[in-house]
Amino acid sequence: MPAIQSILGIETSCDETAAAVVLRHPDGRGEIVSNVVLSQLEEHSAYGGVVPEIAARAHVEALDSLIAEALLQSGKTLGALDAIAATAGPGLIGGLIVGLMTGKAIARACDKPLFAVNHLEGHALTARLTDQLSFPYLMLLVSGGHTQLILVRGVGDYERWGTTIDDALGEAFDKTAKLLGLPYPGGPAVERAALSGNPKRFVFPRPLVGETRLDFSFSGLKTAVRQAATSIEPVTEADVADICASFQNAVSRTLKDRIGRGLERFSAEFPAEKARALVVAGGVAANRELRQTLSDLCAAKGFRFVAPPHALCTDNAAMIAWAGLERLAAGLSPDGFDTQPRSRWPLDQKAETLIGYGKRGAKA
Ligand code: KG4
Ligand code: ZN
Repeated sequence: MPAIQSILGIETSCDETAAAVVLRHPDGRGEIVSNVVLSQLEEHSAYGGVVPEIAARAHVEALDSLIAEALLQSGKTLGALDAIAATAGPGLIGGLIVGLMTGKAIARACDKPLFAVNHLEGHALTARLTDQLSFPYLMLLVSGGHTQLILVRGVGDYERWGTTIDDALGEAFDKTAKLLGLPYPGGPAVERAALSGNPKRFVFPRPLVGETRLDFSFSGLKTAVRQAATSIEPVTEADVADICASFQNAVSRTLKDRIGRGLERFSAEFPAEKARALVVAGGVAANRELRQTLSDLCAAKGFRFVAPPHALCTDNAAMIAWAGLERLAAGLSPDGFDTQPRSRWPLDQKAETLIGYGKRGAKA
């Protein structure tokens, strides 16, 4: 019987320093034995966004002890592991250098194979760790840096069906919050304010709704929010709540249209597939209204809606470890020590770069 495989994962692509040890049982089941994440939120909040230089320094300071903690919690020594996985991109280059170099050093010193993992692949495969989902399935990644609808066909086999042509959805939440004087990160603040607001007071644009292409656009929405706020100055707390509720309502309707079309395309391309599923990942997936919208949509279209636990939807190292294990199990070759970190690294290499895509850069 094949043995249990174990791996150390390292994640440093943005503002979370993370390390994890994950196992893969012979039946394909994954098991997280440790998962340590140190968020740098406080270091960056005064600037209203992630400052790359601060992030890189914070990774340097925290990573060694986080890896030691992840190993301690797992009860494993480095020598007992089968491989090392580290995020090699996309992301902020300073942080990526820290994590990948550390991964290389450990792999070299302990004579273990190294997997240089695409952070987006980590998000894409998480549902197989948490829910043992089988291929193919659709994944919606909605975070501070990405808004992508991806067909996950297999390990290393991805097709991008849609992406944002300007701002990422999390970015739209963050910018809206900033405009309204709400704290960073904006998503949770907008969601909270929206609870007591009137979603019908403002009619905000629903970009690209009705179009057959599956892309997204959110920058017009942000402009509309600014105009609405300016037109009713001085803006009261009740106004803020109404704007937030109306904003969320517009986002929700937009996603319903875009993702609805994506589900229809999936059904058309895989007519024999009985176990259809949509997976969500990324910080925005925490939003209750958006989750409800997607969950209702899936129910209506005969799809299973899979939302991994929040801690595994946002940036973490367990997903990087798992992506490494999936590559190992699929018989894919480990990466050489000459592998370089890359700030841009689309999952679907064939997909063209859209105008403005990934403007804020790097976050995934
Ligand atoms: O995946 P994530 O934790 O980090 C990266 O972007 O890498 O996502 C963070 C983003 C931020 O833009 C934040 O405002 C947004 O997710 N977010 C939310 C919510 N919680 C976090 N957006 C909407 N509603 C939420 N409840
Ligand atoms: Zn991410």
